[in-house]
Amino acid sequence: MENPFKFGTIVEAEYFTDRVDEVAYIKEYVKSANHLVLISPRRFGKSSVVAKTVKQSGRKHITVNLQQVTSVSDLSATLLREFFKVHPLERIRHLITHFRVIPTVSTNPVTGSMDVSFQPGADGTVLIEDVLTLIERAHTEKDRIIVVLDEFQDILDLAPNFDKQLRSIMQNQKHINYILLGSQESMMTDIFENKKSPFYHFGQMMRLGKLPREDFHRYLSERLTKIFPESCNELADSILNYTNCHPYYSQQLAANVWQVGVLQQGIENPFETAIGHIVAAHGLDFERIWMNFNRTNRWILKRLSTGKPLQSGEYRTSTIYSALKRLQKDGYVIYSDHYEMEDPFFREWILASEETPFA
Ligand SMILES: Nc1ncnc2c1ncn2[C@@H]1O[C@H](COP(=O)(O)OP(=O)(O)O)[C@@H](O)[C@H]1O
Ligand SMILES: [Mg+2]
Repeated sequence: MENPFKFGTIVEAEYFTDRVDEVAYIKEYVKSANHLVLISPRRFGKSSVVAKTVKQSGRKHITVNLQQVTSVSDLSATLLREFFKVHPLERIRHLITHFRVIPTVSTNPVTGSMDVSFQPGADGTVLIEDVLTLIERAHTEKDRIIVVLDEFQDILDLAPNFDKQLRSIMQNQKHINYILLGSQESMMTDIFENKKSPFYHFGQMMRLGKLPREDFHRYLSERLTKIFPESCNELADSILNYTNCHPYYSQQLAANVWQVGVLQQGIENPFETAIGHIVAAHGLDFERIWMNFNRTNRWILKRLSTGKPLQSGEYRTSTIYSALKRLQKDGYVIYSDHYEMEDPFFREWILASEETPFA
């Protein structure tokens, strides 16, 4: 029997649950001439919800993850390659003749997909302008294309002043709906809410929360029932309590509970066993990360893990606050209505290490 839970990649179809309102909202939004900015901590389901929506919209769309491009030139080539997936080269060849630097386009004989590259050393600012102009020109106001830029905060690392250039190109475009996703809350807020930023008030801001408990519970127990017909409800509860409804970690834990149930039929404590497996599998990583934390960070993470208050007089409020901000930026801590550790298994590891002191 195939594991009915999936984590780590974009989830679709039977692995995707709820987000009904979000899908409807995004769909409605890209019908207008506006752009959308979607923010949440990593692994909340941004890429998945946007992938589902653009697919359902029936419109032409391309997606590029800025975490996976190394330069402006690489971004331009990647955008162009994605563009060729929705527009056959033959039909837009005449538009490419306007390019100041002509790309090398070849068909990969193995995958059948297009490979695109620009000559090394070509000026990225010229390339990106030509590529985005091509995308604009191939469309009309009635037939807008959706361009999704994932992990958009990475734009700031790509090249100095690139944000400014990109904004000035996008400014005049009328045939593209941009959806910009980002997982670093503070950076994204700075890009779109800071008056000095070129992307100030570029689009509608939307924040993605965790999945609603009731829906997620149903999703988990419906699937767990095949292996745990009697305890599936209880297991779903335990999982969501433990992960605090985090989409990724809940799927990860459920997948492991399932696995334990399949391999060790009739096991009494599948939930604890699964947690044990996951923590053990990541133990080395956790240890390495922990060793690189300074004393303040360690103290904060221990307090968050044990649920003890941070305002205990041990550290100054300003010290705690700036450390929390950093930990949040680096993805170890998330804030919804309170600060919590992002990874429940790291929390578990810290708690276990409390008993056998290591620091
Ligand atoms: N709608 C959903 N239903 C079920 N699981 C989801 C959903 N959205 C996300 N997940 C879980 O979270 C993981 C991360 O999703 P992803 O879209 O990559 O998040 P992000 O782009 O915010 O980092 C997925 O692999 C899946 O396990
Ligand atoms: Mg993503």
